[in-house]
Amino acid sequence: MFKTFREDIAACMARDPAARSKLEVVLAYPGFHAVVYYRIAKWFWQRKFFLLGRVISHIGRMLTGIEIHPGATIGTGFFIDHGLGVVIGETAEIGNNVTLYHDVTLGGIAPSVDSDAQRQRKRHPTLGDDVIVGSGAQILGPITIGAGARVGANSVALRDVPPGATVVGIPAKIARGRAPDNETNDVRFAAYGTQADIPDPVQRVIDALLDKVQGLSMQVEELERRLDDPDKVDWKLGELAAPYDDADDDEDDDVGGCTEINN
Ligand SMILES: CC(C)(COP(=O)(O)OP(=O)(O)OC[C@H]1O[C@@H](n2cnc3c(N)ncnc32)[C@H](O)[C@@H]1OP(=O)(O)O)[C@@H](O)C(=O)NCCC(=O)NCCS
Repeated sequence: MFKTFREDIAACMARDPAARSKLEVVLAYPGFHAVVYYRIAKWFWQRKFFLLGRVISHIGRMLTGIEIHPGATIGTGFFIDHGLGVVIGETAEIGNNVTLYHDVTLGGIAPSVDSDAQRQRKRHPTLGDDVIVGSGAQILGPITIGAGARVGANSVALRDVPPGATVVGIPAKIARGRAPDNETNDVRFAAYGTQADIPDPVQRVIDALLDKVQGLSMQVEELERRLDDPDKVDWKLGELAAPYDDADDDEDDDVGGCTEINN
């Protein structure tokens, strides 16, 4: 069990940019505390000390605000960041190196409806390895979130999610097929579920404005050059290309007085 705790601490260190030391994780990370309570409660649960398991789990809930049923199955390297409000149901299964943020629910669809028929049945989700679940996300029912998938903050997932996919919204839908069937299947962890190589949006706006200014200044230069050289004045309005000529006055009137502009 202590080896598992070491892996849980390492997971906190690796996945929270704010974590400064292992001691800090041990003393001040409710997500880690909740996992410790869960693993102890699970030990008793597996030996059929169900009530003791529930009581230990309840103490953990009182102290951390995180509720993990001792019947749930959780792999190694599990990290709950912030944690408050997380609920993990009895038949949930969680793979290795999974990350949850606060207010996540791994729950049943309608536990209060016909509860007796639901007892001893799989009612909660299964999360594959390396899954990241954003804050406030609700994953409901005995669905499977494939390995390396990401569930966006405040999403409500009601259907299976393919491995590597990113799903967002209510109901959650695939936002970007990052890797279903992706050959490289790169599921490295990104803190908060976001990529580090996203271009700076302010820089993108500035670049676009610079391009626009450059284009406009080229047009102004071209216009100034034409105005300086009357022989080359060519406004390309209809067929009117010649400079203003008194003799042609009457003809020019036919085209709506545009020649006056050339004066
Ligand atoms: C879902 C998530 C992992 C996606 O990150 P990503 O893979 O980098 O994807 P992107 O940011 O490129 O978003 C892809 C699309 O989904 C949309 N999207 C992302 N997150 C969303 C969310 N939670 N709800 C609704 N739409 C969302 C984006 O606007 C984008 O839409 P577009 O393609 O129309 O522009 C990330 O947005 C997220 O929610 N992370 C959880 C963060 C969290 O809980 N932090 C708490 C820290 S305390």
